[in-house]
Amino acid sequence: METMQGRVAVVTGAASGIGKALALGFAGEGANVVLADIEEGPLREAEAEVASHGVDALGVITNVADADSVGALAQATIDRFGAVHMVCNNAGVGGGGLIRNQQLVDWKWVVDVCLWGVIHGVHHFLPHLIEAEDSHIVSTASVAGLMSVPGLGPYNAAKYGVVAIMETLHLELQRDKNADVGVSVLCPGVVRTNIATAQRNRPEELRRQRRERPTGKARTETADARRRNANIAAALERGMDPSEVAAKVIEAMYERRFWVLSHPELLADVNHRNQQLANLENPTVRASFTDAEQ
Ligand SMILES: NC(=O)c1ccc[n+]([C@@H]2O[C@H](COP(=O)([O-])OP(=O)(O)OC[C@H]3O[C@@H](n4cnc5c(N)ncnc54)[C@H](O)[C@@H]3O)[C@@H](O)[C@H]2O)c1
Repeated sequence: METMQGRVAVVTGAASGIGKALALGFAGEGANVVLADIEEGPLREAEAEVASHGVDALGVITNVADADSVGALAQATIDRFGAVHMVCNNAGVGGGGLIRNQQLVDWKWVVDVCLWGVIHGVHHFLPHLIEAEDSHIVSTASVAGLMSVPGLGPYNAAKYGVVAIMETLHLELQRDKNADVGVSVLCPGVVRTNIATAQRNRPEELRRQRRERPTGKARTETADARRRNANIAAALERGMDPSEVAAKVIEAMYERRFWVLSHPELLADVNHRNQQLANLENPTVRASFTDAEQ
């Protein structure tokens, strides 16, 4: 991408963490920013912070799990700015737990937000990006989209899907003479954000279905899940600052680079997985890898 100055960026999940850092990063490059999020209070605060950089900011309450809501976001962007040049499908939620303890509502929530959220973003924004020229789309996956982390089943599944969508899109657009759209996938390691409290955004309907009073074995499993989540929260506290991640994404957009890894050192774990595949060996976790189980 030649320049972001005066252009229009859309970021989902922009009220917090990596999304907010991306929105501020685009503002720093002189771009106008559409901030989309499901949480109204933090969204309004982020909108004001972005606007304080002297660019136009528009906050739009959006549920990325809902196709119509993302369609309305695209329309609101075009109505206000007439075009869109950068799109970050970034909103996501996560929750730890062994697959054998997951309920269908747990799968549904994570897959709806993390995978369908990206599908909706690609579907509704790609035509505008193709029209705009020298545009770029990036979706936030995870290192958990490149290797399967024990204790994160639904999240791994959704993030592998995000990597597959973006890789496919990149390959398709490479061959398309009529499209001038860069594609990237962001695969962060551990970043210091609010994702440990992602449950705050679980829809009431799915929350109600999950409410049950555990007894006996289920109570022990709940305690295990609590320990696992506490470990994840502690690791996030020590994680990378989101502004560093945003800077890497923006650099990749300028350079039209597909892979964006916040922690390239984690490729050793990804390569361990890929090498086992190449050798047709059964999967094991690399000895040095710290997963949500530890
Ligand atoms: N923090 C990490 O260590 C890490 C690592 C790998 C990947 N990621 C990914 O980074 C992305 C951003 O997460 P984060 O870590 O900044 O977390 P965060 O909780 O700080 O921010 C996520 C934002 O998404 C919003 N959101 C949640 N559900 C939504 C919905 N249905 N519609 C619209 N917005 C919604 C939240 O309100 C929040 O503002 C996610 O896709 C996450 O999976 C994070």
